[in-house]
Amino acid sequence: MIKISERLGRVEYAIRDIILHAREYEKTGKKIIYLNIGDPVAFDFKTPLHIKNALIDALIHDNDYYTDSEGWSELRQSIVEKECGKKGLDLTPSDVLVTNGVSEGLDMVMGSIIEENDEILLPGPYYPPYSSYAKFYGATINEFKIFNDGTPDIDDIQKKITGKSRAICLINPSNPTGEAFDLKSLQSMVDIASEHNLYLICDEIYDEIVFDGAFYGIGKVAKDAPVILLNGFSKTYSMTGLRCGYLCMNNRSRQLDSLRQNIFKLARVRIASNFPVQIAANAALNGPQDHISEMVQKLQKRRDLVFKRLNELDGVYCKKPKGAFYVFPEIDLQNKWKSDLEFVIDMLNSTGVLTVHGSGFGTSGSNHFRIVYLPHENLLEEAMDKIDLFLKNKILA
Ligand SMILES: Cc1ncc(COP(=O)(O)O)c(C=O)c1O
Repeated sequence: MIKISERLGRVEYAIRDIILHAREYEKTGKKIIYLNIGDPVAFDFKTPLHIKNALIDALIHDNDYYTDSEGWSELRQSIVEKECGKKGLDLTPSDVLVTNGVSEGLDMVMGSIIEENDEILLPGPYYPPYSSYAKFYGATINEFKIFNDGTPDIDDIQKKITGKSRAICLINPSNPTGEAFDLKSLQSMVDIASEHNLYLICDEIYDEIVFDGAFYGIGKVAKDAPVILLNGFSKTYSMTGLRCGYLCMNNRSRQLDSLRQNIFKLARVRIASNFPVQIAANAALNGPQDHISEMVQKLQKRRDLVFKRLNELDGVYCKKPKGAFYVFPEIDLQNKWKSDLEFVIDMLNSTGVLTVHGSGFGTSGSNHFRIVYLPHENLLEEAMDKIDLFLKNKILA
């Protein structure tokens, strides 16, 4: 065997890693209810027709050549209209880099800012690629506390900032908890980042998928802070498999100038992101938006169903998510399971319901599991019946 890099060993992705257990289960010929991956297209949220047509048209008109590394100019302009016009972040098209999904944008940002032994502050719990990319590039993770009411513990953040800290990340609304930050919390994070010369990396991929009140984006409070906004088309426009996202660097921030001058080099190395898909993404931003409110209405019903059913279970405690399409219940493991991973695997093997263990989302995710509530109510009811029976049997056993 030829040696692989040590850094590759630091990478993990619980959401997909758990699939290995599901494959074993499937070999027994039994059906799995997949509540592990947040892919709307796998359920009844299909890519809107006008977006698909724009993609087909792009191909028919031979718009499938390499485009500019930074992204197609028309799409960059439309992104500015969304993020600057509607959401308030100060941007010109030159502050925008179009990527093959938010995931690639995150990889590029982490790769551009991290040196060996740096530290990255992540909210506990967090979306796993944030720690994987950070560790891959040599950083360690400092998880900061989020209070029960969804606000960040500012004292904890202040305590965890050291001379090696490089960035604070916010996922708003959150994967895995569905929490959304209020304006005051966002303002505090902006102040801390500016004061300590830290990048503030804000992932707003669920900005349109919010219930019970308004969403506040970082743009509203960013002023001249070193804010890097990540966003994309996978969720709001059901374009998961098409792979399109972007990163925006606050135009007013002088602290970002070095990154702004250099990150495009990385974009050139990988040539460009998919041109026909960028044309489709531009159609997404400029076309009808009615599918979004339909999606949110459907999801709200599904959230309410799962939330109610979970809180009826003994030993399970669940907060009501404000956005995205995940719930993150806490489970009393008693002496029945040694860890949340063991719990999730046991539940899979006993019921066929596949969820994700909470510790895959950081240390503060321990004793939790994540459920994706994208499926239709009938399937969710079936899954909840199975979970209910499983817990009753285990607790009585
Ligand atoms: C918070 C968050 N960011 C990014 C992504 C991935 O986005 P993309 O499909 O654009 O790579 C996800 C997918 O689940 C996510 O939850």
